[in-house]
Amino acid sequence: MRPHTPRSELTRREFLGLTSLGAGAVLLGSCGFRGVRGGDSTTGASGRTGSRVVRYDLEAAPVGFGLGGRKVSTWGYNGGVPGPEIRAKEGDTLRVVVKNRLPEGTTVHWHGLPVANSMDGVPEVTQNAIEPGTQFTYEFEVPVSGTYWYHSHAGLQLDRGLYGALIVEPKKEPLSYDKEFTLVLDDWLDGINGTPGDEMRRLKSGSPAMGNMDGMSGMGGMSEMGGEDPRQWSPDVVYPYHLVNGKPAEDPKELEVKRGEKVRIRFVNAAGASIYRVALAGHNMTVTHTDGQPVEPVEVDALRIGMGERYDVLVDAAAPGVWQLAAQAEGTEKVGRALLRYRGSTASAPPADHRPSELGKRLLLYGMIEAKTPDARLHSDPDQTMPVKLSGDEKKYVWMINDEVYPGAGPISVKENEHIRFEFTNTGMMPHPMHLHGHFFQVENGTGRGPMKDTVIVDPMQKLTVDWYSDNPGGWAFHCHNEYHMDRGMFRVVKVA
Ligand code: C2O
Ligand code: CU
Repeated sequence: MRPHTPRSELTRREFLGLTSLGAGAVLLGSCGFRGVRGGDSTTGASGRTGSRVVRYDLEAAPVGFGLGGRKVSTWGYNGGVPGPEIRAKEGDTLRVVVKNRLPEGTTVHWHGLPVANSMDGVPEVTQNAIEPGTQFTYEFEVPVSGTYWYHSHAGLQLDRGLYGALIVEPKKEPLSYDKEFTLVLDDWLDGINGTPGDEMRRLKSGSPAMGNMDGMSGMGGMSEMGGEDPRQWSPDVVYPYHLVNGKPAEDPKELEVKRGEKVRIRFVNAAGASIYRVALAGHNMTVTHTDGQPVEPVEVDALRIGMGERYDVLVDAAAPGVWQLAAQAEGTEKVGRALLRYRGSTASAPPADHRPSELGKRLLLYGMIEAKTPDARLHSDPDQTMPVKLSGDEKKYVWMINDEVYPGAGPISVKENEHIRFEFTNTGMMPHPMHLHGHFFQVENGTGRGPMKDTVIVDPMQKLTVDWYSDNPGGWAFHCHNEYHMDRGMFRVVKVA
């Protein structure tokens, strides 16, 4: 067992320290650790007396963004894509001052963290949008450790560059590893195929996706899964680029490791509409967490990560060389990638579009994961069971929960402190990564110990059941994490009262 050294964190803080001495033109996330005694709260939310306050500043603004030699304009945080990685420890008070320099209102949502409702960052549901030229301070005690992320929850802003990773370190790290990396996956069209707004107009008018031929032929790539695989679908938005930490496959991020090291990788899917298949050539991965929550370790060759989902894996660096870490957009042949480079290796990098054979080997499915810490309040008999039907009308491009299109649909009401069961039925041909704010749910996967998650893919023509305990009062967003489906109606408010 090696001691855990949070090296990347130190490096990052050093980095921030250095940069703030330099340029100054770019406003980076400041990570000042100010021991505040309480009473210094700017929002009225409680900075619990004695808990450490971790402060960041996020400025949402138009940014010029380099994409493999090409310059595109988009919207991002603090001058880059992704936004700064936010790090805190379980129990810290996180205070984030968000300044809006966009031409429209915005909010920031802390995906997966069960914070107080007023801090959840959903416009019209938990707060008024932060208007252009104004700021808002989010402040909450970080309730749980794990891999999370933050993103704008206004309109189609997430499908620009308004997202970043949010890592919460546990009070005591139970895993042992030498090094860690966070990889944020994203599909990219902004500034290339117009804007997300232009893409939405195209979807509503029913014209075919730009470059959709790739989407069609991509189905062939899936056939190795077998003919009746419910995970076969054709994306309705086809993206020209897939990025890992803001970098296209032609200009990949390199993860440097040494032989013999144990490496933790945290994957976040921040895409607007792409599910990724992820594999690391020459290595297998031991899955330790999904959506921030620990699971019984399971060894696989490939992951399937829906929009909003996260997986943490451990990798043994035992095969010197330079290896493709590929994220293939499901239903297409396109890949985003990073490179795993062993120190001292002189091997040349694989081609940008290389799809490792591991993509076709052992794929992690929900049925293979068991929660390490299931919610003991959930028993076999729920207090309330609700059908959740997911469907769409591709012609009008509207998406529905129980046949209703938001905002024309009222809240789903549940009582506080009850065991709630959602029974999903997907009657269409698109997968829907369904996300509930403010709570974790347990995915019923046939093991009796399904994983605790906040986002789960409900596949075409499939049923899926999740159970959760309604212990966080308020009106909570509940929606498909396909940005275009959410914007066109597949959204509800779940009222816990
Ligand atoms: Cu990742 Cu409602 O959000
Ligand atoms: Cu959807």
